[in-house]
Amino acid sequence: MKIIGTGSAVPEFTVTNQMLEQFLDTSDEWITERTGIKTRQLMTTERLDDLGVLAAQRALESAGLKPTDIDMIVLSNVINEYMTPSLSSLIQGRIGATCPCLDVNAACAGFIYALDVAEAMLKNGHERILVMAVEAPTLMVDWKARETCVLFGDGAGAVVVTQGDNLKAMRLTTVSKPKPLFGYLAVSKTPWDQKTEPDYYLKMEGREVFRIAVNSSLKDIKSVLATCQLQPDQVDHYLLHQANLRIMDSIRKTLDVAPEKFPHNIEKRGNTSSASVAILLDEMNREGKIKQGDKLVLSAFGAGFCTAACLIEW
Ligand code: UT7
Repeated sequence: MKIIGTGSAVPEFTVTNQMLEQFLDTSDEWITERTGIKTRQLMTTERLDDLGVLAAQRALESAGLKPTDIDMIVLSNVINEYMTPSLSSLIQGRIGATCPCLDVNAACAGFIYALDVAEAMLKNGHERILVMAVEAPTLMVDWKARETCVLFGDGAGAVVVTQGDNLKAMRLTTVSKPKPLFGYLAVSKTPWDQKTEPDYYLKMEGREVFRIAVNSSLKDIKSVLATCQLQPDQVDHYLLHQANLRIMDSIRKTLDVAPEKFPHNIEKRGNTSSASVAILLDEMNREGKIKQGDKLVLSAFGAGFCTAACLIEW
């Protein structure tokens, strides 16, 4: 595949750490030191498909394509306001595309999983695919639970991919281990249902997830580097899932590469689940920070545990 356009969108409303201090036993100091987050954007008047529509339109515009030029939408999402239909099908109609649509859920690693699905579809004859990650993790958290709600923000990222040879390596892994990071859905119960489920908010054992994130991302990154016979410092940009600045730093130090090769926007956006890598990619592209021929490693990790990394030449 080859990426020929990028787009993103976040809600208009920004929540600062100081605003969270008003109703949670937390502090700007704690959040900044432990995570790197200063602000995040949350939906107020928007719905998630509104953000998806904007990101899709911006990606199409940047690729110089019409919505009807797209022959598939593959969209990563964990949760949105609709149980059904799929978020990609809602967005398809609103942007005026006519192609088939598919949602995938690989938690925070989903954007890279969606890229891999798109790669397979391109090999199968598709020509132009809109790959999206559209996420509202703030819908999952308990807004009284300081250990999770301060971490997340909402947002959408999109790329248009077409036939090409710029995806140089891909590694996906899933190790079934739900306990450290899971959230039940509040679903309907039949009159005969006998199960008692825990409450439906997101539960996370932060330290355990931190440890798994660092180890798995390092394994994935080393694997794609080995496939391409590259040393860590031969990569121009490492775009990691924006979950915690300390996670990124720990990975960077182990790889022994310069801080400027690990761009981040977590301070502004918080953790936007699988949208984080896609939004960062679009912001860097729009700021002209990615040059033709640059080597990019994308790496993400999340519930499952699902992890993924890929190496792309721009
Ligand atoms: O995108 C999905 C993947 N998610 C991740 O990768 C997240 C990975 N984990 C993390 O990023 C970090 O573990 C957290 C940011 C979630 C937590 O940081 P930590 O340094 O691991 O803190 P901790 O959970 O060990 O908590 C330390 C203390 C606790 O108090 P005690 O027990 O030491 O008295 C917590 O109760 O910090 C307390 N705490 C807070 N204090 C103020 C937890 N949350 C907050 C808070 N404000 N928001």
